[in-house]
Amino acid sequence: MRLKVQFLVFFYCYIVCSYLGLAKVVQNTALNDEASALLSIKAGLIDPLKRIHDWNLPDNEAGKYSVHCNWTGVWCNSNGAVEKLDLSHMNVSGRISDDIQRLQSLTSLNMCCNGFSSSLPKSIATLTSLKSIDVSQNFLLGSFPVGFGGAAGLTLLNASSNNFSGFIPEDLGNATSLETLDLRGMFLYKNNLKGKIPASIGNITSLQLLDLSDNMLSNEIPDEISELKNLQLLNLMCNQLSGQVPAGLGGLTQLEVLELWNNSFSGPLPIDLGKNSPLQWLDVSSNSFSGEIPASSCNGGNLTKLILFNNAFSGPIPPSLSTCQSLVRVRMQNNQISGTIPLGLGKLGKLQRLELANNSLTGQIPDDISSSTSLSFIDLSRNQLRSSLPSTILSIPNLQTFIASNNNLVGEIPDQFQDCPALSVLDLSSNHFSGSIPTSIASCQKLVNLNLRNNQLTGGIPKAIAMMPTLAILDLSNNSLTGGIPDSIGTSPALEMLNVSYNRLEGPVPANGVLRTINPNDLVGNAGLCAGVLPPCSGYSPMTSRQRSLQTKHILAGWIIGISSVLAVVIAAFGARSLYKKWYSNGSCFEERLEMSNGEWPWRLMAFQRLGFTSGDILTCIKESNVIGMGATGIVYKADIARLNTVVAFKKLWRSRTDIETESSGDFVGEVNVLGKLRHRNIVRNLEEVLESNVGNCKHVQEEMLLVLRIALLCTAKLPKDRPSMRDVITMLGEAKPRRKSTSNNDRFANNKPNPVFSTSPVNGLL
Ligand SMILES: *[C@@H]1O[C@H](CO)[C@@H](O)[C@H](O)[C@H]1NC(C)=O
Ligand SMILES: *[C@@H]1O[C@H](CO)[C@@H](O)[C@H](O)[C@H]1NC(C)=O
Ligand SMILES: *[C@@H]1O[C@H](CO)[C@@H](O)[C@H](O)[C@H]1NC(C)=O
Ligand SMILES: *[C@@H]1O[C@H](CO)[C@@H](O)[C@H](O)[C@H]1NC(C)=O
Ligand SMILES: *[C@@H]1O[C@H](CO)[C@@H](O)[C@H](O)[C@H]1NC(C)=O
Ligand SMILES: *[C@@H]1O[C@H](CO)[C@@H](O)[C@H](O)[C@H]1NC(C)=O
Ligand SMILES: *[C@@H]1O[C@H](CO)[C@@H](O)[C@H](O)[C@H]1NC(C)=O
Ligand SMILES: *[C@@H]1O[C@H](CO)[C@@H](O)[C@H](O)[C@H]1NC(C)=O
Ligand SMILES: *[C@@H]1O[C@H](CO)[C@@H](O)[C@H](O)[C@H]1NC(C)=O
Repeated sequence: MRLKVQFLVFFYCYIVCSYLGLAKVVQNTALNDEASALLSIKAGLIDPLKRIHDWNLPDNEAGKYSVHCNWTGVWCNSNGAVEKLDLSHMNVSGRISDDIQRLQSLTSLNMCCNGFSSSLPKSIATLTSLKSIDVSQNFLLGSFPVGFGGAAGLTLLNASSNNFSGFIPEDLGNATSLETLDLRGMFLYKNNLKGKIPASIGNITSLQLLDLSDNMLSNEIPDEISELKNLQLLNLMCNQLSGQVPAGLGGLTQLEVLELWNNSFSGPLPIDLGKNSPLQWLDVSSNSFSGEIPASSCNGGNLTKLILFNNAFSGPIPPSLSTCQSLVRVRMQNNQISGTIPLGLGKLGKLQRLELANNSLTGQIPDDISSSTSLSFIDLSRNQLRSSLPSTILSIPNLQTFIASNNNLVGEIPDQFQDCPALSVLDLSSNHFSGSIPTSIASCQKLVNLNLRNNQLTGGIPKAIAMMPTLAILDLSNNSLTGGIPDSIGTSPALEMLNVSYNRLEGPVPANGVLRTINPNDLVGNAGLCAGVLPPCSGYSPMTSRQRSLQTKHILAGWIIGISSVLAVVIAAFGARSLYKKWYSNGSCFEERLEMSNGEWPWRLMAFQRLGFTSGDILTCIKESNVIGMGATGIVYKADIARLNTVVAFKKLWRSRTDIETESSGDFVGEVNVLGKLRHRNIVRNLEEVLESNVGNCKHVQEEMLLVLRIALLCTAKLPKDRPSMRDVITMLGEAKPRRKSTSNNDRFANNKPNPVFSTSPVNGLL
């Protein structure tokens, strides 16, 4: 016994001598317990970046005293107890040890933005000293621990962006000091918090920020939420909440942000919303709200975003809004708002977006909008506005988009485009605008999309439009425009889409640029248009002298073509006859096919079924002596490729009729390259095999399919210059039905020509 005591005395002496005193020793035991708790936490973590590598007890006992207070992410209070643990942004994962509950002095725990994918230990809720807990942006699973209601001092709880599921613990309502409760699930991850928002939330009267967005919360918002008199932000967006919004929200005098969008709310908004609060953001879009827009929403003078679109709001736009100087965005499209656009919106110095489309607005576009210096986006389309356009509205210095389509606007399009420095989209379609297209529109250097369709515009298409550097889409259809299509429009630098259908345009369609490949549907409904992709001009009378001389050239060219065709046909007949004989006597597969097709010359696409040749092989054969025919789409040549012991026929397509005179040998190279290159040739071959087995004996169907495929391949040539013109494509498609007898018809777009595309068509005709 004595010995024991002596030993103890000795033992303590040893420690006391080593350190400062007995009291400290007792404390040390506790502190060492915290150190070991931390080590236990460390043991559960995966720490690839070795961020908490320094969490180690030194070997010599001497260093042991509260050494953990120096560890990365650990802070101690003046008593040497851990009060703050910050493991955020450390790329750690793994599980959080139950031993965390041993850090009873912990007031701040931050583990945000890591890779934790376990559940939170239930015991964590026994840390009742906690004032702030942030476990956001992890992959934490399971239900959120119950018990934090006992942490009387808890002010911040951020559990957003995790994989929590289940219900919001009701006892949180007892954590009445909470100022920030962020439980939102976010895009990447989702807290699947479901069920109702607990009524007890009304107990957390100090709550300032409540963010439960992106969850699966349903039912109504509890009326108790109106008790949260300190609430500054309420974000419930992207849930499945329904019913009416508690009228008491109007009484929250601190409310700055109210986000309710993308739910199923119905009924009216509290009529006094914003009346006594510095409301800044109000976004209730994509619900089924009805009733009037709260007139008081800008009472505090702080409203910047008023976002009400996709609802069923009715009644007028409150005039109070047009004195709301703080407004930046007003988005009210897709509602049933009626009445007129209030005066004064143009005087709001910060207003950038004004979206009122698809409502029932009547009256006029107020003049004062023109005086705005801030508006960049205006959409008034799909209303019943009935006025002329304010003359300077398109000169708003920051205006990028102006859409006023589908209204009853009248008068002329103001000729005031000198200052349109930013305008990129102008859509005035489906109105009753009359007069001509102002030439000054061409001074809008940034205009990309100009849509004037469905009006009553007259006069010509201003030539200057062709010079616009960024114009990509030009729709002038359904008007009464007269005159010709300006020559240069096809070569307009950025033009991609041109629609001039249903006007009174006349004369030849220039065959350059975009107009080479224009869809004929974009030209229809103009009885006087011809040439280009349309049928050639015949007997077209009102002609300039240049056009007349062109016409003469065309007639001349026509005769030359006609005569040489006859000659070519005769030559080709002989050539083909011997060819045919040769093949026939070889006893090749052609024999069989010939029988199959009832003695008709088997429709062959030799040029592309024997694919051993190169573009060089073909190029050398482009000479006068090899011409075996000339068709509507080009000249047919014979190519005797000795190397392969093969004779093929190929057709060199012409770009368009008007190009005939100017065609240079360079074009030949270009077009033949397309045919010869056929990087797709393996695709074609494989397809043939597939078709062979599937279509079986329906050879003509197979051939037709292959033909169309080949046309498609031509159209997808790498370089645009290698692609056939729309006119050629249409003709080719028309001809791509070799076995079908064509009914004679004048409409070349609807009809098939009997001669195949790349075929030995003259031969076909003769045998
Ligand atoms: C913490 O580290 C500093 C230097 O890095 C050292 O001076 C101090 O003594 C250490 N404190 C403890 C308690 O280990
Ligand atoms: C840490 O994690 C972040 C986010 O998961 C990642 O972008 C980053 O590359 C990681 N850093 C290292 C060094 O692995
Ligand atoms: C909660 O955490 C997320 C992600 O770490 C952060 O973006 C968000 O601002 C935090 N919420 C609050 C209210 O501080
Ligand atoms: C909240 O606290 C009260 C007393 O302080 C207690 O009676 C009640 O059970 C607690 N509520 C929850 C859900 O824990
Ligand atoms: C968390 O949820 C996301 C999306 O819901 C899912 O892709 C991911 O696998 C989940 N992570 C874990 C650890 O369950
Ligand atoms: C919390 O709210 C619930 C429901 O509203 C109520 O029954 C309870 O008494 C409140 N608890 C405290 C501590 O105020
Ligand atoms: C609206 O919320 C649903 C889930 O409630 C989501 O699937 C959808 O993407 C959300 N829509 C938008 C525009 O965020
Ligand atoms: C609201 O606006 C008023 C006056 O413009 C300003 O004094 C106040 O600070 C603003 N409040 C908030 C929360 O922005
Ligand atoms: C116009 O708004 C109504 C709702 O008021 C909506 O149902 C409809 O789809 C909208 N139409 C268009 C074209 O957006």
